[in-house]
Amino acid sequence: MEEELCITTLEERDLSDLMGELVSVYQRAYATLPDYGYHSLQRIEGYIRWLWRGDPQGFFVAFLGKRLAGFVGVHATWWENGELFGEVHEFVVDPAFQGKGVGSALFGRALEYLMNRGRKKIGLWVGEKNEGAMQFYLKRGFQKTIQYGKWVRMVKEVEIPVSPRDFGEAPLFRWNKR
Ligand code: ACO
Repeated sequence: MEEELCITTLEERDLSDLMGELVSVYQRAYATLPDYGYHSLQRIEGYIRWLWRGDPQGFFVAFLGKRLAGFVGVHATWWENGELFGEVHEFVVDPAFQGKGVGSALFGRALEYLMNRGRKKIGLWVGEKNEGAMQFYLKRGFQKTIQYGKWVRMVKEVEIPVSPRDFGEAPLFRWNKR
């Protein structure tokens, strides 16, 4: 990869500054998967804010040089049918940058964060015909569990580090303004 990949969390003001780019990356990533993404600008923006507010330290963005290449939004505390999960809610990479390892790097950071918060199970919902994302998760040890309508539940059981560090109080990194 020619340009440097930088993965960071965001303060709320940076989220606002970057909102246009975040929405645009989301729209491009779901352009070929219209059944699984939100469509109105207002809905997408509200969704991105919901992701960030639910766990600001679990919202990671990837920059390639100065361009926003993708983001992942996870919540470290998520209850699903009475079970505690680290939940991967959203994960997108701009199609212009897909297949270059950006997604793997983002996803790795998100999983590391969830494991450091002590989560033993990582869960997500993926569209039943979203073969690309499903392959991505299967290769990383996720297994299909239940299906609810067009959504497939995938779960991965993880080994807890010997001394899990709790990043809950860590300051958010400041995004370097361009
Ligand atoms: N066909 C087959 N495999 C695919 C495809 C595809 N169309 N797209 C991604 N993959 C998988 C492959 O397993 C590939 O494995 P490889 O390393 O052996 O080639 C891997 O993804 C590529 O890895 P990266 O380059 O690290 O990932 P990338 O930067 O392309 O990001 C992502 C992966 C986020 C899934 C991206 O393809 C994307 O944005 N897709 C559209 C949006 C989407 O489906 N998001 C996930 C929804 S589910 C959820 O958010 C919980």
